[in-house]
Amino acid sequence: MIKILTIIGARPQIIKAAAISRAIQSSFSDQIQEIILHTGQHYDHNMSEVFIKEMQIPTPDFNLEVGSESHGVQTAKMIQGVEAVLDEIKPDYLILYGDTNSTLAGAIAGSKLHVPVVHIEAGLRSFTKTMPEEINRIVCDHASTLLFSPTLTGYNNLIREGFNPDNDPPYTIDNPKIYHCGDIMYDNSIYFTDIAKRKSKILEKLDVIPGNYILGTIHRDHNTDNPEKLSSIFKSIIRLTNEFTIPAILPLHPRTKKLLKKNLDKNTYDEVIKNKNIVIIDAVSFLDMIELEKNSKLIMTDSGGVQKESYFYEKPCIILRPQTEWKEIVEQGTGIVTDTSEKLIYNAYKKLSNKKFAEFLPIFGDGHASEFICHEIISNHGIV
Ligand code: UD1
Repeated sequence: MIKILTIIGARPQIIKAAAISRAIQSSFSDQIQEIILHTGQHYDHNMSEVFIKEMQIPTPDFNLEVGSESHGVQTAKMIQGVEAVLDEIKPDYLILYGDTNSTLAGAIAGSKLHVPVVHIEAGLRSFTKTMPEEINRIVCDHASTLLFSPTLTGYNNLIREGFNPDNDPPYTIDNPKIYHCGDIMYDNSIYFTDIAKRKSKILEKLDVIPGNYILGTIHRDHNTDNPEKLSSIFKSIIRLTNEFTIPAILPLHPRTKKLLKKNLDKNTYDEVIKNKNIVIIDAVSFLDMIELEKNSKLIMTDSGGVQKESYFYEKPCIILRPQTEWKEIVEQGTGIVTDTSEKLIYNAYKKLSNKKFAEFLPIFGDGHASEFICHEIISNHGIV
């Protein structure tokens, strides 16, 4: 039996972990034993617990309860906690997802203790090291032994950074193995779409007309912590909702909610609060999010995951960031990078909102990335 330790902590990796846990439970439970450690980076019920329950992730075996701190304190506490658990359970592999501080902590603790690190969602780059996630990705990739990239772009980024695509085993941290395997989030979307349709009541609850609302999410510190940028995003939303008489549904990360009053200029804040077409709600569950995405007219977001989901559900996407790791979406013409410019956001809306897209090519795999990853972990066992 192969013993793996999976680290989760922030919302996106809890969601990603569901795909691998599901694959283990349904096809590999006689070969892989999964132990789950939650760092506690996200702790609000609707940022953590709701996904664990709804997506049937096994209850975490360990919870470090680190909570919100500065990057240094938060990451340090996680490294210390992960190290202790690695010492205690001595797993064969450490599975890490994405690019959060929980990923970074796992990569440092695992590599120092010589536990082979498996990085899922490897190779993504925004090429801006001021973004905290970029450093986390680079460190994690370079501390890993098996690297699974969701896109060809990510795979090629790894090759450009010196990873050898044709190396022979044994695979080690100094001779890592890289894969292009498709996106486990696409696996999740396929699996949960019908379940969401049956179970989610969010559209009725919000009383919105399918196909006739903008869905928006904003949580990057780059946007939320900068009054000018946050105000510019909200001014754009006000303009679009007024000029095109369309509601905007905004499920907000607690970080953004806390900063709205502080960082929006007073006029914008007052207008946001009194505008009946701007509907601010708490962060929603995965099933509710799928329903909201699938039935929207257009999505605006600074999230990496939501950008991709816009593509899965064939919706146009305004990307509220200066660049994107998911450049395929922009290349396909279904997404436009606007950063926070009011003019660019307005122009992108006009361009995308009524455009008919010919085809959404299957650039995120075949929906079986999770099985592929489990299979590779098993077949490489002994040569890692
Ligand atoms: C983290 C990840 C980011 C990911 C995002 C998804 C890092 C560096 N960033 O950003 O890559 O896209 O999660 O959500 O790891 N807070 C709460 N309740 C919670 C969690 C957070 O109120 O359950 C608030 C706190 O005020 C906290 C702030 O959000 O200080 C930031 O949380 P943190 O986990 O540090 O970063 P995120 O912005 O969530």
